[in-house]
Amino acid sequence: MGTFLRVMAVFVLVFVVFQFIPFSDKSNPPVDKKLEIKVPTKVANIFKKSCYDCHSNETKWPWWSSVAPASWSIIDDVVEGRKALNFSTWNNYSQKRKDKLKKGIYRTIMGPMPLPQYVLLHPNAKLTDKEINILRDWASDGKGFIKTSVR
Ligand code: HEC
Repeated sequence: MGTFLRVMAVFVLVFVVFQFIPFSDKSNPPVDKKLEIKVPTKVANIFKKSCYDCHSNETKWPWWSSVAPASWSIIDDVVEGRKALNFSTWNNYSQKRKDKLKKGIYRTIMGPMPLPQYVLLHPNAKLTDKEINILRDWASDGKGFIKTSVR
């Protein structure tokens, strides 16, 4: 066998072996609508479009989330995303935590959220200026501004 074929064979073998490495569960826990965040429809629609795949129990898993190694990083984003903020279980948070998360939302939508690797594959999730304003207005309780340096 030529070197090229040997290298290719190793790649294919590694790829196949990857598929059998167990990783955390790709699942959606049951949704209790009573615990879900209650916000005006226009705010909810933006969260659903741009955030719910990582920050809710209603993740729409794309087919490539079943293929290692892509699946590892996607599942990890969802697990960590739900840990940081879960709109499906929002009402389990204390008022203090909700206030902190609203500040976090206000702050992160100007930068890292939704995550760039996600936007690359879901261009529609990218927030427009108008959507950012709607979310910031909500997160600041209509004040339009939060001092985010104080955490
Ligand atoms: C592709 C997955 C993904 C998407 C989509 C996504 N997030 Fe996140 N988000 C994460 C992960 C992972 C973390 C936790 C790790 C971190 O802080 O970087 C996180 C953390 C956060 C935090 C907590 C950060 C902090 O320091 O307080 C907030 C707030 C947040 N996201 C808001 C949003 C909002 C709002 C959207 C939609 C506009 C969104 N995210 C979309 C994956 C995602």
